[in-house]
Amino acid sequence: MEKFKRKHKYEGLLVVIEGTDGSGKSTQLELMKKYLQAHSYGVMVSEWKTSRLIANVIDDAKERNLLNATTYSLLYAADFADRLENQIIPALKSGFVVLLDRYYYTALARDVVRGQDIEWVKNLYEYAPEPDLVFYLDMPVDVLLKRIIGTTGLDFYESGRDVGFSTDFYKSFEIYQKKCLEQYDKMKEEYGFKSIDGTKSREEIHKIMQGEIQKILQSGVID
Ligand SMILES: Nc1ncnc2c1ncn2[C@@H]1O[C@H](COP(=O)(O)OP(=O)(O)O)[C@@H](O)[C@H]1O
Ligand SMILES: [Mg+2]
Repeated sequence: MEKFKRKHKYEGLLVVIEGTDGSGKSTQLELMKKYLQAHSYGVMVSEWKTSRLIANVIDDAKERNLLNATTYSLLYAADFADRLENQIIPALKSGFVVLLDRYYYTALARDVVRGQDIEWVKNLYEYAPEPDLVFYLDMPVDVLLKRIIGTTGLDFYESGRDVGFSTDFYKSFEIYQKKCLEQYDKMKEEYGFKSIDGTKSREEIHKIMQGEIQKILQSGVID
C-alpha cells in the first residue's frame, strides 16, 4: 500500500470534525477517540474556543454583549492561535493523532455570515497547517432545530442574534444557520471535506469515519 502523504510537515495526523452546532461533532469525536485509543494510537483532542488564554475573555464578552463582528473574528483567531501553538503543533510534532472539534472552517463560515470579507478571514488563518482529513457532518436546518430544541436549547450567538437577522429566536436561528450552511457548502469542494449525512445514526456515522481513518493508518503513516 502506498504510504499516505501528510498535508503538513509534522509527524502526527491532523483530523478535523466540522459541522454546525448540534450536528454530532462531540459525539463522534468521543467515539473516534475511544476507537483510536483502543488501537494504541496516541490521541490528542482539542475543541474550538478552549484556549486558556482567550476562552474566558470570549465568554465574558459574549455574556456582556460586547462583541462586534471584528472583535468576534479576532478573539476567536487569537484563541485558535494559542491552541495551535501550545497544544496542536506540539502534539503533531510528537506524532499524535490530533482530533479537532472544529477548525478554521468554522471561522470562515461564521465570520463571513457576520459580514467579514472572506479573504480577510482566510489571511487570519493562513499559517495554520492543512488537516489530513476533514469530516463534515451535513445537517439540514429543520432537523438541526428539532435536535437543538430537544437538547441544548438555542444559544444567542449560534442563533446569530448578535447580527440581528430577526427578533424572533427561532427565525433568527433558522436564517443564521442557513447562511452558515451555505458557507460550508461552498467549502466542501474547495477544502475536500468528507461530507457525511448527519441524520444517520451515531453508529453509522462512526463506521464511515472509522473506514476513512483506517485507510490512512493502515498505510503505516504512524508507527
Ligand atoms: N447521529 C445522531 N442521531 C441522533 N442524535 C444524535 C446523533 N449524534 C448526536 N446526537 C445527539 O444530538 C445532540 C448534539 O450532539 P453533539 O455531539 O453534542 O453535537 P455538537 O458537538 O456538534 O454540537 C446530543 O444530544 C447528541 O446525543
Ligand atoms: Mg460539541
